[in-house]
Amino acid sequence: MLDAARRLIMPSARSDVPPFMVMDVMAAAARIEAAGGRVIHMEVGQPAAPAPSTAIAAARAALAAGRIGYTATLGIPSLRARIARHYADAYGVPVDPARVIVTTGSSGGFILAFLALFEPGDRVAVALPGYPPYRHILTALGCEPVPIETTQATRWTITPEMLIAAHRRAPLKGVLIGSPANPTGTMMAAEALRDLIEVAEGEGMRFISDEIYHGLDYAFAAETAARLSDNAVIINSFSKYFCMTGWRIGWMVVPEPLIRPIERLQGNLAISVPTLSQIAAQAAFDGRAEMEAVKHGYEENRRILLDGLPKAGLDKILPVDGAFYLYADVSRFADDSFAFAKRMLEETHVAATPGVDFDPLRGRHFVRFCYAGSAAEMHEAVERIGAWLR
Ligand SMILES: Cc1ncc(COP(=O)(O)O)c(C=O)c1O
Repeated sequence: MLDAARRLIMPSARSDVPPFMVMDVMAAAARIEAAGGRVIHMEVGQPAAPAPSTAIAAARAALAAGRIGYTATLGIPSLRARIARHYADAYGVPVDPARVIVTTGSSGGFILAFLALFEPGDRVAVALPGYPPYRHILTALGCEPVPIETTQATRWTITPEMLIAAHRRAPLKGVLIGSPANPTGTMMAAEALRDLIEVAEGEGMRFISDEIYHGLDYAFAAETAARLSDNAVIINSFSKYFCMTGWRIGWMVVPEPLIRPIERLQGNLAISVPTLSQIAAQAAFDGRAEMEAVKHGYEENRRILLDGLPKAGLDKILPVDGAFYLYADVSRFADDSFAFAKRMLEETHVAATPGVDFDPLRGRHFVRFCYAGSAAEMHEAVERIGAWLR
């Protein structure tokens, strides 16, 4: 009887996904701030700048005009057309607006993509280190994430050889890559992306490309999978380049046969994406000059950290190609990056994220710094860390 009662309040096994540890760092930072400390926040991966003023003005005008109703399930047609035009403008790649689907952030895009592409039990390759929700969303949906450990030798990306080796051990149904990547900030060269897509599709695997950090590329231009394959699913967002994290708005470019299934899924799961955010997102494309200025700020921050952190003692850093992350090896100073990040926060008031979130094993040696703040904060962080490590 007791067992039956307990079962009624038991959460499902698939809801048992790990939390994001960065939240624990944020909570510790908030305690320091509540006690009067001034924390430099380099733990959370979000821009310090607001959305483009064009987006905010469009949202204000829409609110003033009155009713905010549902939209078409796949998104406001003019927004889908504007996103399609973005591919022509930014990459010189023609994309049919019918293939563009507006989503609730890229997070909403992953759920739709995984549901539309995979069956329960399907195995999907993801890179380690990598963005944790890739693995956790797959798990929650009953799929099996297959982590592939990347290394310096392969520039921290999945190579065709690694993919094939994993596929031969047990068949994979898909592979998901992110470039520029979180947490490393490292990018795949266009040829590397092309080779991986070719091999994946040759083996019958679905290819998903998370392009959320496109626009924030410093080392070389990021390539879109949309140029390389009509079968790939591209996931993107207004969260990072357009500084619109809280607006929860993103998009996908999908192969034609997936349009209707995803329309059915999104119609049932969400009806449509928040209307105000869609209106703002369309206007965000007119605010590119502002966003380019923000990007130049990140470039300056990147330069400050690449110059300062090695002098401060953190000299083992993965290639800092894009996004706004720097992934540093701290094994010289600590065996456990969680303890390192905790001590650094307590003793220097610089908050960063321990790598265990992104790589359960080797992440013990790494800490991720987000450099989406101000140049003054970057200088101060370098100074505080340098004084602490000396
Ligand atoms: C690599 C990567 N993909 C996807 C997301 C999700 O972003 P959003 O749902 O805000 O578009 C993030 C957020 O940090 C990320 O780092």
